[in-house]
Amino acid sequence: MYTRKNVLVYFVVLLVIQPCICLDIITRTQPLKDGDVLISEGEYFELGFFSPGSSSNRYVGVWYHQIPEKNVVWVANRDSPVKNTSGVLSVDGTGQLVLFYSRTPQILIWSSNVSGSGDGRFSAKILDTGNLVLFKDEYSEKNVIWQGFDHPTDTHLPGMKIGWNKKTGENKFITSWKSPENPGTGQYSLKFDVNESNPQLFIYNGAERLMRVGPWNGVTFSGYPEFTVSGPDQVAKQVYIDNEEEVSWYYTINNPANVSRFVMNETRSVAQRFNWDPVTQKWYPFWTGPDDSCDFYRHCGAFSTCNPANVGAQGCECLPGYESQGNPLRDRYQCLRKSEALVCGKGEGFVEVSGVKVPDTSTAHLESDITLKACNNLCLKNCSCTGYTIANISNGVGCLTWYGDLLDIRQYSDGGEVLYVRVDHHELVGSKKRVLRVLLPVLVAILLIIIAFGYWLLRKKKKRGGSKRLELFNSLENSDERGTSSTGVHCFPLSIIIAATNNFAFSEKLGQGGFGTVYKGKLPNGQDIAVKRLSITSSQGIGEFKNEIILIAKLQHRNLVRLLGYCIQQEKMLIYEYLPNGALDCFIFAKKMVLDWQTRFDIAMGIARGMLYLHQDSRFRIIHRDLKASNVLLDASMNPKISDFGMARIVGSEQNEETTNRVVGTYGYMSPEYAMEGHFSIKSDVFSFGVLLLEIISGRRNNSSFDAENSLNLIGYIWDRWLQGTPLEVVDRSLGESYVVDEVLRCIHVGLLCVQESAVVRPTMSEVVTMLCNERTPSSPPEQPAFINRATGYFGPVRSSSSGNGAIAVAEMTISMIEGR
Ligand SMILES: *[C@@H]1O[C@H](CO)[C@@H](O)[C@H](O)[C@H]1NC(C)=O
Ligand SMILES: *[C@@H]1O[C@H](CO)[C@@H](O)[C@H](O)[C@H]1NC(C)=O
Ligand SMILES: *[C@@H]1O[C@H](CO)[C@@H](O)[C@H](O)[C@H]1NC(C)=O
Ligand SMILES: *[C@@H]1O[C@H](CO)[C@@H](O)[C@H](O)[C@H]1NC(C)=O
Ligand SMILES: *[C@@H]1O[C@H](CO)[C@@H](O)[C@H](O)[C@H]1NC(C)=O
Ligand SMILES: *[C@@H]1O[C@H](CO)[C@@H](O)[C@H](O)[C@H]1NC(C)=O
Ligand SMILES: *[C@@H]1O[C@H](CO)[C@@H](O)[C@H](O)[C@H]1NC(C)=O
Repeated sequence: MYTRKNVLVYFVVLLVIQPCICLDIITRTQPLKDGDVLISEGEYFELGFFSPGSSSNRYVGVWYHQIPEKNVVWVANRDSPVKNTSGVLSVDGTGQLVLFYSRTPQILIWSSNVSGSGDGRFSAKILDTGNLVLFKDEYSEKNVIWQGFDHPTDTHLPGMKIGWNKKTGENKFITSWKSPENPGTGQYSLKFDVNESNPQLFIYNGAERLMRVGPWNGVTFSGYPEFTVSGPDQVAKQVYIDNEEEVSWYYTINNPANVSRFVMNETRSVAQRFNWDPVTQKWYPFWTGPDDSCDFYRHCGAFSTCNPANVGAQGCECLPGYESQGNPLRDRYQCLRKSEALVCGKGEGFVEVSGVKVPDTSTAHLESDITLKACNNLCLKNCSCTGYTIANISNGVGCLTWYGDLLDIRQYSDGGEVLYVRVDHHELVGSKKRVLRVLLPVLVAILLIIIAFGYWLLRKKKKRGGSKRLELFNSLENSDERGTSSTGVHCFPLSIIIAATNNFAFSEKLGQGGFGTVYKGKLPNGQDIAVKRLSITSSQGIGEFKNEIILIAKLQHRNLVRLLGYCIQQEKMLIYEYLPNGALDCFIFAKKMVLDWQTRFDIAMGIARGMLYLHQDSRFRIIHRDLKASNVLLDASMNPKISDFGMARIVGSEQNEETTNRVVGTYGYMSPEYAMEGHFSIKSDVFSFGVLLLEIISGRRNNSSFDAENSLNLIGYIWDRWLQGTPLEVVDRSLGESYVVDEVLRCIHVGLLCVQESAVVRPTMSEVVTMLCNERTPSSPPEQPAFINRATGYFGPVRSSSSGNGAIAVAEMTISMIEGR
């Protein structure tokens, strides 16, 4: 018999226990009202009503129980908000999960909309995975008739499958919220492209493809290499299924204590995988896509690869055997096969391009169960096959072959796959010689140093009677001001360069060029230096490096920048004298300081003398090929020094002209015959000098158009004023009236002579120097200059303002532009 007290105790215990019993379950008699929450058994997830951001709308959602910031991972009624707090989530007698307003008449807001569940007792339960399941009778996997994981919102949770059901045609994917205030179906999504024989994962903005995460390669997606390389990801395991029934992908967490989510962001158009760090209580992004410009779908044109470390051409670079057809006026970088001839049956082969995201496989052909060798043969024997790769597919190894454009390829610094690109016999031999090409400049440089060192020792012995003390930078200090007796270049140890530049500190960065970055440094002996660090990835860099060392080591002139040494440990670097005033363009365009007329004239004279030395007076005939304001540096007393010999070419002293099929240089300074036909000569340098001279006078860039009506560039504008008889109008306004009229007129005249369209009638540098020095005006009047019409991109002679007809049209320009160095 119970005592009164016993009964009371029993009752109290019941009261305390009661709310805990059914905390993770909703039944018909036990609905979920706004304000209540369900908590999963292991207390991982919580289900309840919430209002996103500052919105007053109510939504039923799931979030982490233990993470203070409420990261909603799933929303039931994302597109049908509850307008007030009278919403109720329940289960009805027909086996439906329903959300409705509680006041009678009850208005339905959202429902699970499952059919054919029959009769029975239905319940819903929040699982420890974050999955809300609706089931019949007792909970077990086979009794589940509907689940939240089949209706993903913006978060891909561990265990949640996304993909395509081949039987029903249904494609499940995640879609961002509309905004932080609105969990409705937004515009960004991560989904499989179902219309392909080779399924690929894409990130979409509406119907537009933002990023190709790529095809599955057996371990991860081609565009998600971080999964295997950074870390590696200890936390997750990925599973990809491709069978008769479905194509799908999910990931699982090895340790249930670890928390991870994959979410499509609503504001930044990126998909991100986050891992939760319980110590710092923060989410850390493990992967983000798109992460850099190379990730964007087809950022580069066909047959080119995107490398974020490349500075020029927006990171794009042609595949082996292809060359750029990039027109600086068009944005897209196009690469075409180097030789027109069909690469077939003429000893062609494949060049391996490794560390890449494989090209878009929408057009690729997949052959299962095949070896690398067989794959190679398969591609080789079909003339239209452009490349192949071996990929892991769900049921073995597969061979992917492409028969057209290779699209959307990018380079990874770590991880990535191997692509075999079909190239002709010529290219194949070239790639084998590449090793030699790398070694050759080094050997030449070492030889030069040995000779220089021997010579220096001999000289020193004579001079000082055999002093044996060796100082590291002795020869640099000894080389006299005129630089006529410098003994050569030094090979600097990497450690010295690292110390000098403060480990390439960002603060020491002087500038960025097409082939690398320039840093300021200080040697242990106090000497200031400029270090040009060639970008590792630039294949062009090697040739240019060799070129610069060999050339500049032998050139000594007060108007040329002096090379002090180089470094070839791990990376290629060139060490120059440091010129405190920096590049000329900062003065004439950016107006770091307004230069008076005398200084401008002296600078122009200095450049002319430097060019004259290159063309005529040095031991070789050198064509600089990239003379421009940013390549002229100024020392402390504003003496100009020509720099950057990366593009320079030595031509035989009898030879005045050469032709190349790789046009390099800077738009705006290139002569028409060079830009269009690849002819370069001392006269193309004269053209560049003319442009530079006119820029110095006017303080404007040639490639900035300011005569909007005629879309003329600087040359066109000056020629127009010259014809009108008002040439002084072009003089830099910041000079005011403080210039010598005769001198300015003479300079404009010389400038116009240098940019004449016909190379033959342009003066030589020695004539230029004479004319500039000479007090009299040049005898011949200038003829029509070449100009570039900004609107059409065509070179042509300038027409006077009214007659704009018949500019020479050139169908295809082939200029590979190396921007703003
Ligand atoms: C909530 O909104 C619904 C629909 O607008 C309405 O029927 C119901 O009466 C409202 N409840 C309260 C408590 O205001
Ligand atoms: C419920 O599903 C059926 C098909 O199963 C569909 O026709 C109907 O539009 C759906 N209703 C709602 C409210 O989603
Ligand atoms: C697949 O192709 C069909 C027919 O061409 C088209 O209607 C559908 O939108 C495509 N689906 C996707 C996801 O591209
Ligand atoms: C995963 O869980 C283990 C065990 O709790 C922990 O030591 C580790 O730091 C976790 N890793 C991450 C990335 O959270
Ligand atoms: C999207 O990115 C913004 C900015 O980083 C962030 O504040 C927001 O929480 C992100 N949204 C999601 C769903 O992660
Ligand atoms: C080469 O492959 C293409 C595409 O698969 C095919 O149409 C063509 O017939 C093949 N040619 C030969 C010679 O096998
Ligand atoms: C294929 O998958 C295996 C493991 O399943 C892996 O070891 C191998 O590296 C993969 N090969 C390629 C080419 O991805």
